Amino acid sequence: MTRASTFIDQQRLWDHHMAIARFGATGNGGVNRQALTPEDGQARAALAGWAGERGFRLIADEAGNLFVRREGTDPDAPAILSGSHLDTQPAGGNFDGIYGVLSAFEVLEALEDGGIEHRHPIEAVVWTNEEGCRFAPGCTGSLVFSGKHQIEEFLDFTAPDGAVLRDELERTLAATPGAERRQGGIPVAGYIETHIEQGPRLESAGLTVGAVTGIQGGSSFAVTVTGIDGHAGTVPLQARRDAFRSAHGIIDALYRDLADPSDTVRFTVGRFEAHPGSPNTIPGKVIFTIDFRHPDQAFFRAKVNGMAAFCAAHAGPCEVVVQERHAGDPADFDETVVARIERIAGELEIPAMRMPSGADHDAKYMVPLCPTGMIFVPCLSGISHNEDERADAQDLAAGARVLADALLEMARG
Ligand code: GLV
Ligand code: MN
Ligand code: MN
Repeated sequence: MTRASTFIDQQRLWDHHMAIARFGATGNGGVNRQALTPEDGQARAALAGWAGERGFRLIADEAGNLFVRREGTDPDAPAILSGSHLDTQPAGGNFDGIYGVLSAFEVLEALEDGGIEHRHPIEAVVWTNEEGCRFAPGCTGSLVFSGKHQIEEFLDFTAPDGAVLRDELERTLAATPGAERRQGGIPVAGYIETHIEQGPRLESAGLTVGAVTGIQGGSSFAVTVTGIDGHAGTVPLQARRDAFRSAHGIIDALYRDLADPSDTVRFTVGRFEAHPGSPNTIPGKVIFTIDFRHPDQAFFRAKVNGMAAFCAAHAGPCEVVVQERHAGDPADFDETVVARIERIAGELEIPAMRMPSGADHDAKYMVPLCPTGMIFVPCLSGISHNEDERADAQDLAAGARVLADALLEMARG
């Protein structure tokens, strides 16, 4: 039987990456293409143009998710989906997310080039706002598609730059005017997402493909500590309600509480704002974020559920409000999909291993909907969320070849 992998075109896949890399290019080899910005719209429009050239249907839903569809032979069969995101971190790279979208699109092109038919339709998907750095939490698009949330819950979210999600979504949808509109999710028979690993394990092991077994639990909190503004030169230290000092105490206590000899815990304070932000005013307000992740369900839930009380207990004379923006439990991928990826990599003589994912991905929210899996390829020194993120064209093509055969098997089924 014809293998779709035969028709994967390494150069075309690479050229598409370099074309998308122009939108939001920082000049330092990286990209700033945060969700729902004009640059996000430009990247989507480029993909829409390529889809139009190949005669694929283009569909957008109410969350701004964009689907490029190749029809199957059975009009009633549920779709097989594959994709990821085109938005990036403020100082991001050219592969995180982009690879998942472009490899899925490459599979559609390969199927077209090979004249290969399949029973189920296959859709390459761009999920809206995976990164969550401009509008938190991330994975907005996949959360809405999965039915876990409604888009209305996110529409009033405001970015640090003052933009409101509702307006930005409308503008981004207008960037692909040719897209048909679809409301809500559709029945899905399978989902596979390719992604760079964003860690060093594949490179260290000298392997090309990771058959991902699941994603650890991930949570995101916004913490507001409130004290009283005061004069830096006059208010005695003991009389102060210094929000910075309390925030520092909370964060220090969290580091001590989460200290882990096995190095499994992931804990990050990625944003910290002291207000009013004057060198000679005691800060009366601090806002900071907590990103906490762990693969063990019980440990993850205990820490997430206890976060507000823990912060309050270490806030000293200040008040603290802990807002849970998102807490997604650990998720296991479907064993048949993981085994399929492993087997196909073997058949294609691409060295592979099973591995969990430390990063969050839209695939997590597809798990309740359909058999789901992920394919990782290496990135240089495991560097990601960084302008120096790099991936090798051959590795990207290898992952796309595994994806092509896996999607075709599922779409024939
Ligand atoms: C996605 O980039 C994540 O935060 O894991
Ligand atoms: Mn990503
Ligand atoms: Mn990312």
